[in-house]
Amino acid sequence: MSKFWSPIVHALTPYVPGEQPKIQNLIKLNTNENPYGPSPKVIAALQAEAADSLRLYPDPDSSRMKAAIAEYHGLQTNQIFVGNGSDEVLAHIFQALLKHDHPLLFPDITYSFYPVYCGLYGIQYETVPLDAQFEIAIDDYLRPNGGIIFPNPNAPTGIPLPLAEIERLLQANKDSVVVVDEAYVDFGTESAVALVSRYPNVLVTHTYSKSRSLAGLRIGYAVGDAGLIEALIRVKDSFNSYPIDRFAEAGAVAALQDDDYFQQTRQQVIAAREQLVSNLRALGFEVLPSGANFIFARHPQYAGEQLAAALREQAVIVRHFKKPARIADFLRITIGNDTQNQVLVKALRGVLQA
Ligand SMILES: Cc1ncc(COP(=O)(O)O)c(C=O)c1O
Repeated sequence: MSKFWSPIVHALTPYVPGEQPKIQNLIKLNTNENPYGPSPKVIAALQAEAADSLRLYPDPDSSRMKAAIAEYHGLQTNQIFVGNGSDEVLAHIFQALLKHDHPLLFPDITYSFYPVYCGLYGIQYETVPLDAQFEIAIDDYLRPNGGIIFPNPNAPTGIPLPLAEIERLLQANKDSVVVVDEAYVDFGTESAVALVSRYPNVLVTHTYSKSRSLAGLRIGYAVGDAGLIEALIRVKDSFNSYPIDRFAEAGAVAALQDDDYFQQTRQQVIAAREQLVSNLRALGFEVLPSGANFIFARHPQYAGEQLAAALREQAVIVRHFKKPARIADFLRITIGNDTQNQVLVKALRGVLQA
């Protein structure tokens, strides 16, 4: 603390990201990173970028990257906004589009960065409880609001919402922006990108951190109506002209060019998830249905905190949320490679038999 702080800093409750331990030989299943490395074509593109041109600023419009993303989704470049990770894209969305007289709505159990942005930008919000099955119930959002945001699949539950339900929400909610945070969509959830050309109030965010295995490069983007994108560009150009550096742009373009690698690795993660779900159910775990690269599971006889601590003793790290109480017995477990998943199952079996 210091007497020089601006008043708002005292009131902030910053987001706490999952731990990035500096210990060797850990089985790290706590931050939903991809167990496979990035495409070899991305590595080659990054190496080629390490050149004299680094003394020059990057393209402030990230035109090559936007063109590649637009082509990938069959959209126009003025429907694409790019940023330094989808967290930065989300931050700009909160500031540019979600601060209105009515409160912003999001689920009570969801990505814990949302309330943090509200605190930073002074946005009032209301949380909407997930139903008894931990699902988002669209009918509960059909009331006056200053915007709606949720991940699909939701995090940390992993449960996907069918596209038809999102469309039903958009048909009923025409006066505010609906943001669908698709950080994990490539692992088996239907994308709402198909709706952006028909609904001027839907924005869909994607990240390269999960299915493209580039969490370390920090790349995210939003797609939506050109009018919404223009608002984001205005905020970005009032904040940082160059959020995408030369490496990030080269890596982003190369990643989209290697579709074979993308399809292969995401299918491997999906197959490993199904295997892990059945192994954990065989051990007596309740596992929520997942359309993501993680699962959310609890055991009827063990507290979540106790299981997370026991795994940690065996050098396996998973994510445990103490709050809200309704999810305190769940573990959020990232899908690893086959060896990592086997070590996890063996460690859990050991804990349950002890
Ligand atoms: C639901 C959700 N949205 C957005 C993000 C941010 O991803 P990034 O900033 O790495 O693109 C995450 C990261 O874990 C997430 O879980």
